[in-house]
Amino acid sequence: MKILVTGGAGYIGSHTTLALLEAGFEVVVLDNLCNSSKIALTRVEQLTTSTLTFVEGDINDRALLDNVFAEHRIGAVMHFAGLKAVGESVVQPLMYYRNNVAGTLILCEAMAAAKVFKLVFSSSATVYGETNEMPLHEQLPTGSATNPYGQSKVMVERCLSDLGAADPRWSIALLRYFNPVGAHSSGLIGENPNGRPNNLLPYISQVAAGKLEELAVYGNDYPTTDGTGVRDYIHVVDLADGHLRALQAIESSHGVAAWNLGTGVGYSVLQIIEAFEKASGCKIPYRLFPRRDGDIAECRADSSKALRELGWQSTRGLAEMMMDTWRWTRQNPTGYS
Ligand code: NAD
Ligand code: WQD
Repeated sequence: MKILVTGGAGYIGSHTTLALLEAGFEVVVLDNLCNSSKIALTRVEQLTTSTLTFVEGDINDRALLDNVFAEHRIGAVMHFAGLKAVGESVVQPLMYYRNNVAGTLILCEAMAAAKVFKLVFSSSATVYGETNEMPLHEQLPTGSATNPYGQSKVMVERCLSDLGAADPRWSIALLRYFNPVGAHSSGLIGENPNGRPNNLLPYISQVAAGKLEELAVYGNDYPTTDGTGVRDYIHVVDLADGHLRALQAIESSHGVAAWNLGTGVGYSVLQIIEAFEKASGCKIPYRLFPRRDGDIAECRADSSKALRELGWQSTRGLAEMMMDTWRWTRQNPTGYS
């Protein structure tokens, strides 16, 4: 089967493209490279014996999408393309709603016109917003996301749920990722943020590589083990595997379903620093700062639904996440450039 992977040159998309090729799927990647490099795809091909088709372009370009569907017999779409910087979304909400929400609607219209009704969508644990219940399970209400990025995921989930309810031909997986980290064990592909990183692991990596001086730890007064924020970090290769399982599931079913993809285990910022230092042998200087706006104390998945229904669970632990992150950074100190 041929899979269209939007955003396939990006961090999670490139790891999933590799997993798809390794599993014997044909892959067409559509990416406008606004936050990625074509080199990631060259590296993906280097890691397999297969080749992929790359189309440089935008999901908002309906004519281009129609051409892609006309040229290739696409069986399903994995939709990673989107903007993901929370802070930027607060400053430029329209750009986020246009790209993430309107772009997804255009993609779905083009899919329907081409009679392709199988879709795996990159959602996020951010759709749960702030809640007292932990771990987070799929039946919890969504919609209280505190920033336009998060709201764009809530909106797309809503649009896709309505679409599935209106037309039984659709089969849609909403995959709610927790905190993706790590890299392929080869060190050839990994996360390559533009400019100063917002997320914890890319920031720590750049401190270790000597590109940034010290880490700011945002808040040590949360009701957690050591007062710092707790998150459910998930290895990106486990995440990629979850996409293959979801694809398998929607091949034989109809409707819309959401699955959490996390490990169920939470680590604090200080525990992450310690684990990274151990894996890399580098000291990570840090300083305590007040809480970051919009942050929550803890975010951890109940992924039992994915285990039950997809037969998926994470297999890579914290040490492997840290070692793989560090190998990628060490081998590619300037990312793909
Ligand atoms: P990424 O930025 O590395 O990848 C996104 C890719 O989409 C990039 O290659 C970018 O060039 C491309 N893209 C963006 N807008 C596009 C458009 N209009 N047309 C074509 N291509 C476009 O991000 P990622 O971390 O790989 O995230 C992939 C998806 O997973 C995103 O939808 C993101 O919101 C979601 N997600 C990410 C995380 C995370 O922490 N990384 C967590 C939860 C959900
Ligand atoms: C993790 C922990 C910070 C940076 C974000 C998005 C979410 C999802 C994943 C896409 C928190 C602390 C961080 C730093 C720090 N993305 N931290 N110093 O905020 O859980 O989730 O990425 O869907 O929507 O919000 O991830 O990596 O930014 O933070 O102390 O320089 O590390 O306060 O406790 P977060 P993160």
